[in-house]
Amino acid sequence: MVSIVVGGHYGDEGKGKIVSYLAKKDDPAYIARAGVGPNAGHTVYLDGKKYGLRMITCGFSNPEAKLLIGPGVLVDIPRFLNELEMTDTADRVLLDSRCAIIEAEHKEDDLSANSKKIGTTGSGCGPANAARVNRVIRLARDFPEVKKFMADVPQVVNDAIDAGEKVLIEGTQGFGLSLYYGNYPFVTSKDTSASTAAADVGIGPTRIEEVHVIYKAYMSRVGEDPFIKYLAEDEVNASPMWTRMLEAADDAGFEGTVNEKIASHLGEIGTVTGRPRKIGSFDFELARYSAKINGATNICITCLDKLFPECAGAKSYDKLSEDALEHIRAIEEKIGVKAKLISTGPDVADIVDIRDGS
Ligand code: GTP
Ligand code: IMP
Ligand code: MG
Repeated sequence: MVSIVVGGHYGDEGKGKIVSYLAKKDDPAYIARAGVGPNAGHTVYLDGKKYGLRMITCGFSNPEAKLLIGPGVLVDIPRFLNELEMTDTADRVLLDSRCAIIEAEHKEDDLSANSKKIGTTGSGCGPANAARVNRVIRLARDFPEVKKFMADVPQVVNDAIDAGEKVLIEGTQGFGLSLYYGNYPFVTSKDTSASTAAADVGIGPTRIEEVHVIYKAYMSRVGEDPFIKYLAEDEVNASPMWTRMLEAADDAGFEGTVNEKIASHLGEIGTVTGRPRKIGSFDFELARYSAKINGATNICITCLDKLFPECAGAKSYDKLSEDALEHIRAIEEKIGVKAKLISTGPDVADIVDIRDGS
């Protein structure tokens, strides 16, 4: 049984939270990090502690699972080693020997005028992927400091699948940031859809059973993208929900544009960049399209509590308010896929899981 988790909007949808939940609940034997590389910042709150992870999968929340990094993923070695220590997982992490390694020159090149225009995370991912395509990058196998973690990750996961084990794959970024499907050039350096996540760890399309596409209850975007319609004053004034939120932001003394005030109120600050994220209303059309291209078998809605605070910490469907349910139904109807996981807070335990039909 292979399940993939990917983002359906512009990244930061809460994939980390959902992966850490599925890792505990479904108990996969192997959990693999796919995606671009350390440009992703995944956040997990586990047993009262906050983890910001950019290399190790958020599935570390399951203490028995083997944690893998697939050959498609770019690796920042100091960060990798630091996260091994932070999560105390050195005895159960395997790194594919063909992962491409980000070095200082790639980070320097990520400060170029073009990187600034796109608003990259500055983590060196774009230049490293370019060097990989130009066949001038060094691979993990060239670095003695990671030798003891070396493995053939595709072989390991395919053997696990053959043996009937569960495998969970963690994608990064979001569909709107895909090199293929996003608003080029305001995109990341690789496709971010489920098919590429599977290829990143070496799993063929016929072996994937579940694709969870994650959406925030509203939209956030870090970095530049002039093609997005962000929340502006007229839209805020026309909506009692956003107006209430702006009032709360004013009461709290937040400053800036209407969008910045609401972002501050929602706590939307980039995990990797520390920049305030820009906010938008739920983009139904992008969501519908991304569910389709990703082959979604399930959609997950996160941060429901931020739009509907009365739902904070809810763990069953009957604890969700009528307003919140109306929002969920509108999303399900427009996308045409049921939301079986609904996240109601940052902690791994704050979730409504109706996958068993209850
Ligand atoms: P990228 O790969 O960088 O796109 O990251 P991601 O999808 O893992 O999301 P990230 O952790 O960067 O951002 C999501 C933020 O929302 C984090 O701060 C999470 O702790 C938080 N979060 C996730 N789910 C919920 C939720 O249901 N409610 C609340 N209040 N916060 C949530
Ligand atoms: P890069 O991936 O660092 O080259 O950045 C390219 C674009 O994708 C920029 O707009 C970034 O802000 C955005 N981006 C890259 N990774 C993430 C992520 O994990 N979450 C949100 N945005 C991201
Ligand atoms: Mg993030």
